[in-house]
Amino acid sequence: MRRGPIFALLGIGVVAGAIATAVALLLPWLPDPASKERGRIDFVTWFTVGICIFIFAIVAAVLIYAIYRFRAAPDDDSDGPPIHGNTGLEIVWTLIPTVLVTAIGIVSAVVLARNDAQAKDTLNINVTAEQFAWSFSYPQAKGLTSGTLRLPVNRSIELHFQSKDVIHSFWVLQFGQKQDTVPGIKTELHITPTKVGTYPVICTELCGLGHAVMRSSAIVMPQAAFDKWLQDQTKATGSSDTGTAGAAVFKNNGCGACHTLTAAKATGKVGPDLDKLPTYAKNAGQELSAFIHESITHPNDYVEKGFPANTMPPFELPKDQLDALVQYLIDSSKKG
Ligand code: CUA
Repeated sequence: MRRGPIFALLGIGVVAGAIATAVALLLPWLPDPASKERGRIDFVTWFTVGICIFIFAIVAAVLIYAIYRFRAAPDDDSDGPPIHGNTGLEIVWTLIPTVLVTAIGIVSAVVLARNDAQAKDTLNINVTAEQFAWSFSYPQAKGLTSGTLRLPVNRSIELHFQSKDVIHSFWVLQFGQKQDTVPGIKTELHITPTKVGTYPVICTELCGLGHAVMRSSAIVMPQAAFDKWLQDQTKATGSSDTGTAGAAVFKNNGCGACHTLTAAKATGKVGPDLDKLPTYAKNAGQELSAFIHESITHPNDYVEKGFPANTMPPFELPKDQLDALVQYLIDSSKKG
């Protein structure tokens, strides 16, 4: 083979590769990773993209060169030469992709295995998904349930999922992994947060009318701050002061995601406005306390006009928490 075509192919390949590399590196495609797992996943991504750019440059060079060098003259209507095949070429273009895809497979398998590997002091947190709220409970602090996920930084964490109704999917973009929550099946996700900060928790499985509002936050905090929060919360939930306890239950169960309540600075619009509870109780023909109680435990027996039916899940709360929440709602709505 003459040298000319080789140099031409090389030149076109370098230019195509440079353009593809610039597009890959100069645009911010991925967020900064906030977990060890995300860091590893990003490595697999760039490993694969690197291979793609290399192959793209070769294919683009051959294609552009062939289109230019072997184009037919404007008045050439004749058939091209008959070609049966080229065994050597076919072996090469089968072998190279086989090796590359196998390499991607091996790197991915190593990353998956390392992402699932827990450290000795793994912190377990139970996650419950329901239409349309996340709740997180901490086995190490009895009775503590929170509507936001709090995690200590640089600690191996295992989330244990359960769903009360339909399939949801847990996703924190900066942590890099998704996990479906399936009714009747226990699923898990291992995370090691590496950066203190607040990240959105998103449901990524269409789960009904409130799917779009099924959001929460993951707050990654230093270990000492996390320990203090855990202590304070345990105190507040078990507090004899009903107001504080009720407010904690309201916040921890994520009520504010769907409901408005001025006292709790909640502005949700999916469900009824809790500042108007006395009016709703009158409409339902019930005494206020009994009405609120019913509306939490059997929310679909009576739904205020103008709001979607069968949207709120029944909340099963321990009796002291339920009583505190009912009293808190009575006090708050009378003020509001
Ligand atoms: Cu839960 Cu979408």
